[in-house]
Amino acid sequence: MQHPKPSYKTQSFIFFLWVLSNVLVLATSKSTIEPCSNSDSCNAMLGYKVYTELKVSEVASLFQVDPISILTANAIDISYPDVENHILPSDLFLKIPINCSCVDGIRKSVSTHYKTRPSDTLASIADSVYSGLVSADQIREANSISDPSVLDVGQTLVVPLPCTCFNGTDNSLPAIYLSYVVTPEDSLAGIAARYSTTLTDLMNVNAMGSSAVRASDIISIPLPACASNFPSYAADHGLIVPNGSYAITASHCLQCSCGPGSLNLYCEPASLAVSCSSMQCKNSNLMVGNITAQQTSAGCNVSSCNYGGFVNGSIITTLSTSLRPRCPGPQQFPPLKAPPTSVIRDATFAPAPAPQSDGSIAGAPQSTVPSTTSSSLPGLAPIGGPSGSSSAACSLVTPLTNLPSVVLLLLCVKFMMAIL
Ligand SMILES: *[C@@H]1O[C@H](CO)[C@@H](O)[C@H](O)[C@H]1NC(C)=O
Ligand SMILES: *[C@@H]1O[C@H](CO)[C@@H](O)[C@H](O)[C@H]1NC(C)=O
Ligand SMILES: *[C@@H]1O[C@H](CO)[C@@H](O)[C@H](O)[C@H]1NC(C)=O
Ligand SMILES: *[C@@H]1O[C@H](CO)[C@@H](O)[C@H](O)[C@H]1NC(C)=O
Ligand SMILES: *[C@@H]1O[C@H](CO)[C@@H](O)[C@H](O)[C@H]1NC(C)=O
Ligand SMILES: *[C@@H]1O[C@H](CO)[C@@H](O)[C@H](O)[C@H]1NC(C)=O
Repeated sequence: MQHPKPSYKTQSFIFFLWVLSNVLVLATSKSTIEPCSNSDSCNAMLGYKVYTELKVSEVASLFQVDPISILTANAIDISYPDVENHILPSDLFLKIPINCSCVDGIRKSVSTHYKTRPSDTLASIADSVYSGLVSADQIREANSISDPSVLDVGQTLVVPLPCTCFNGTDNSLPAIYLSYVVTPEDSLAGIAARYSTTLTDLMNVNAMGSSAVRASDIISIPLPACASNFPSYAADHGLIVPNGSYAITASHCLQCSCGPGSLNLYCEPASLAVSCSSMQCKNSNLMVGNITAQQTSAGCNVSSCNYGGFVNGSIITTLSTSLRPRCPGPQQFPPLKAPPTSVIRDATFAPAPAPQSDGSIAGAPQSTVPSTTSSSLPGLAPIGGPSGSSSAACSLVTPLTNLPSVVLLLLCVKFMMAIL
């Protein structure tokens, strides 16, 4: 008599099912999954393509972020008059700084809410308004919508957005992660070149088995950055600024920049007209950002007044003095751009993806005439129309188009045949 214990074959079959289910999970994820367990949050970036002419303030309200933070993250000069009401051209690619937190064990941002308007569909909100950073299914799940065909106008939806922290480092160097929606023209090598990283690094970060990417996949791109070391009780603890850009902090009182020469965070008073608490270092006449250098026989005596975080509404300053072999040159700043009025299309900027049924505006060069833009978000021309929206590309029914999964599946099948 045989014991009714599971045979080796049964066990391997269960193992096969387990592998298969993991493969399916991997294949259906539209973006990099970073498991997390604590409640820490980090700064992250979203790669967003402006879906129609929008004011800076309108883009900011789509993501519920500070308009100034969008401008500084993109090294756009904030000293232009009324820059928050500047109209951005359709298809402009922007980095949107967001707060990435830990929700249900994975990294994502859920602080974005969207109020539905007439003619919105989940697909139009996902693919157009949020430029594919979220899928219709993800919005449906996050809001427990049973019938997606019935959206009440004025309903507030949580828009879960992809982000990763990876401890704020990449290969042990400070980095901030950009969630990027792959376009049909993209290759992973091209993305790596555009963001001055390597194919290997992108594949490692995204746990990819091959370099194949599909349009509407979302990948995490590490951007070299300048990290702060503000204490954990500072309101801006964890501030990290990508190379070539700026961030505004301490209630708009300070701006911190990163690069281009050294990747040390440099903070100084912001040029915004706001009343700020003292920015002077104690027992010194230096203000935050001031650096003095004096050549002595022993070397260069460098004193600097540095920003140390925003605590209880106060700007913390620290004075540091050091003797260096050589005096530092003048502080370098990332170049600022004028607020963009048109989208420059060249090899590094992929052209617009398939027109969003509203073909009248997609792709056409945009003027800055504020015709369609009023104080609220402009009315969205009916978009939903064709069902071949990009959110379908990442649905559960197409796992086999993912090459690494196919390879894994074949390996599994081979494995099964070998042991059966
Ligand atoms: C980021 O989000 C978390 C969780 O929602 C919150 O506790 C934290 O204060 C936020 N951080 C910033 C800088 O907004
Ligand atoms: C996270 O980064 C810090 C430095 O920023 C490092 O000391 C720490 O070991 C890292 N933790 C992990 C889990 O990688
Ligand atoms: C920072 O940006 C500058 C200018 O874009 C570039 O020359 C430099 O190599 C970058 N540094 C790093 C570490 O990527
Ligand atoms: C200190 O910084 C302030 C503001 O950035 C500037 O106006 C002033 O000239 C600086 N002083 C010195 C001594 O560098
Ligand atoms: C360096 O400069 C600071 C302030 O300018 C001064 O207090 C200090 O004595 C100097 N140190 C040396 C070694 O010269
Ligand atoms: C901030 O202020 C609160 C009361 O307003 C005080 O209890 C707390 O100790 C202060 N924190 C710091 C770091 O000064």
